[in-house]
Amino acid sequence: LPEPVKRRVRALKKLQFRSLEIESEFYRELHDLEMRYADRFAEQLNRRQQIVLGSVEPTDEEADWPETTESEVELANLLREKTALTNGAGGQAGDAPQSQQQPAGPGVPGFWLTALKNVDLLSQMIRDQDEPILRHLTDIKVITFSGEQNGFVLEFHFSPNEYFSNSMLTKHYYLRMVPDPEHPWDYEGPEIVRCSGCEILWKAGKNATVKVVRKVQKHRGSGQKRTVTKTVEADSFFNFFNPPTQEIEDLLQSDFEIGHFLRERVIPRAVLYFTGEGLEDE
Ligand SMILES: *[C@@H]1O[C@H](CO)[C@@H](O)[C@H](O)[C@H]1NC(C)=O
Repeated sequence: LPEPVKRRVRALKKLQFRSLEIESEFYRELHDLEMRYADRFAEQLNRRQQIVLGSVEPTDEEADWPETTESEVELANLLREKTALTNGAGGQAGDAPQSQQQPAGPGVPGFWLTALKNVDLLSQMIRDQDEPILRHLTDIKVITFSGEQNGFVLEFHFSPNEYFSNSMLTKHYYLRMVPDPEHPWDYEGPEIVRCSGCEILWKAGKNATVKVVRKVQKHRGSGQKRTVTKTVEADSFFNFFNPPTQEIEDLLQSDFEIGHFLRERVIPRAVLYFTGEGLEDE
């Protein structure tokens, strides 16, 4: 291009950059707006927790909501099959006619385990040894924070259990609100750039993130065999709380995706994942 035109294009790019700055101001305000609404959502979510745990029974007015239609149940079952659930509470959700024959315990048993297992992204992470632990999950909350650092915390609340002594496990996600100086044109709003987990205080022999393997060794010289046991790392949902610290791009990317999905979808709409109706959105 002739120099005068090039010069004008440079001006256009500068204008574009100014737009990005305005856009990031918009997202900053949106973040604050979300925080202001958090209290109103919290009221609903607290009531949800009470009903799930069985500490209250919903009033007739609260329970005045149409039954799930057959086609909704069918769709939910179909989608759930795709996520290849194993047995346990997971398989029962949505089978309303059957569960009526069972004596009803308090609350909604297995609510969070079922909801999590219905999310494809998460069901892959939940191993057999994790399930009894996740039955103690009483709530998942998201707390948004802003200030010097911006981001959100996922809080996993647990009832007292035989596996670990924490009552809550946390995962922090930190957001970059402004365009990355090195790649400004990639900006599409706040982006997760870092996360941190927490220490799980496993009780003796209950660490779900390790397994003991036995190996038969043969002595080179004598040929004598002996069995040795070794503790190795195991796949587990609870590795979620021990994310890679180094930039292992792919691993972190999928971790960020999971954190984002929990915040935006699963926590606000848990009941629809419990029934399977929320799966369509995935
Ligand atoms: C549990 O296992 C992990 C390895 O996956 C290890 O880093 C951690 O220290 C163990 N925790 C306890 C309390 O044994």
